[in-house]
Amino acid sequence: MSTALVILAAGKGTRMNSELPKVLHPIAQVPMLVHAMRAGAVLEPERTVIVAGHGAEAVRAAALDEDEGATVVLQEEQLGTAHAVDQARAALEGFAGDVVVLYGDTPFLQPDTLERMLAARKTHDLVILGFEAADPARYGRLVMQGDSLERIVEFKDATETERAIRFCNSGLLACNAETLFGLIAAVGNDNASGEYYLTDVVEIARKQGLAVTAVACDEAQTLGVNSRADLAAADAIFQERARAELLDLGVTLMAPDTVYLAADTVIGRDTVIEPNVVFGPGVTVESGATIRAFSHLEGCHVSQGAVVGPYARLRPGAELAENARIGNFVEIKNAEIGEGAKVNHLTYIGDASIGANSNIGAGTITCNYDGVMKHRTTIGANVFIGSNTMLVAPVTLGDGAMTATGTVVTRDVEPDALAVARTKQENKPDRARKLFDMLRAKKARKQKDT
Ligand code: UD1
Ligand code: MG
Repeated sequence: MSTALVILAAGKGTRMNSELPKVLHPIAQVPMLVHAMRAGAVLEPERTVIVAGHGAEAVRAAALDEDEGATVVLQEEQLGTAHAVDQARAALEGFAGDVVVLYGDTPFLQPDTLERMLAARKTHDLVILGFEAADPARYGRLVMQGDSLERIVEFKDATETERAIRFCNSGLLACNAETLFGLIAAVGNDNASGEYYLTDVVEIARKQGLAVTAVACDEAQTLGVNSRADLAAADAIFQERARAELLDLGVTLMAPDTVYLAADTVIGRDTVIEPNVVFGPGVTVESGATIRAFSHLEGCHVSQGAVVGPYARLRPGAELAENARIGNFVEIKNAEIGEGAKVNHLTYIGDASIGANSNIGAGTITCNYDGVMKHRTTIGANVFIGSNTMLVAPVTLGDGAMTATGTVVTRDVEPDALAVARTKQENKPDRARKLFDMLRAKKARKQKDT
């Protein structure tokens, strides 16, 4: 059976108190909407329709960035969840399979839950995802009769007895496309909120004699994010899960609670992560590497046996070959660091490549930006860069070359050559003592005057 996803993402999220549309707030550095899209992607949907409203342009950009085949439709006025799904009608024209409705602000949905919903579809026309709520609060209540879901009653419209029900509506559903849009067409807005409730399709379906049921999942999966506090709590849950997965995979986290991961962080077995390390998006660390304390990595690749930090920063495009070493207060951006090469202290390497076993001295800077354009620095293998060398790009240093400490390199250096560019040292006998005497006398005069 082919499926299509409809992801509701038009709501304002007033309680986020934000310029950013709610569904674009990130969890583990990935927008909530993208988490929802990835959860739905396991169904290999034939079509994906995102219903956007508030901040639609930004939502569109984020959705297409994740899946260029997605369709983003606009719900100009938020008249309710049934009205929202109805906006996908045209985009699903000619689609004959099942529609699965997801929310853009529930990022914890697990793939097997969706599969269970589709399995239940084999015996039921309409399947709702429910959960036993610890605190049912304002959720819609599922009114069951045995295995059959009779209707969903919104909190605002519920009687005292109905409010006592703890089996709640997650908002997710699965239904044949034609059936669903037929049911939605019959939904009215005569209720406490004056909204077109998607939940009303249940009662309408039952009146038509259709089979409706609810599949249950644990509450954690349906957790919605409505405030910054929810967002922080959701991120914490995500982090805890991701850390546990890494530990299971054989990664050592010396202080797991202090390691911050992105949703797509990949770390190999026997890698050691010291305390207080932050992973931004797009990081892969191979097995047997060491990421030392207080390092910050994003968009980079660290090969086997490499050591990073403490206090190192790897920015997008940093590519470390096996056994490379990046030390304290070193920043690497868009640069390949060759096998066994060392960049150990206080250095900026940007838009560069460094050959195998080269050694970059403390305080080296690749001067990659002239104020208008970026330029590359190419350093061969077995090069020794003296401390405090400025490499004014574009510049190339051949294999086995060397720079003297404090050199400003503005021209290419041939292989095996030594580049020296600094004034010659001169020592002036006794001059230091005379200077000190003069300065101390001056200070004494000043103190007398006051
Ligand atoms: C909804 C359900 C409720 C369920 C709860 C679970 C209805 C009528 N109620 O209530 O039974 O327990 O979710 O969290 O469906 N949205 C749009 N356009 C709209 C309205 C909503 O895109 O016009 C989107 C929102 O951005 C959100 C989702 O749909 O992602 C749910 O809307 P929300 O207003 O949060 O519904 P609830 O009142 O929480
Ligand atoms: Mg809600």
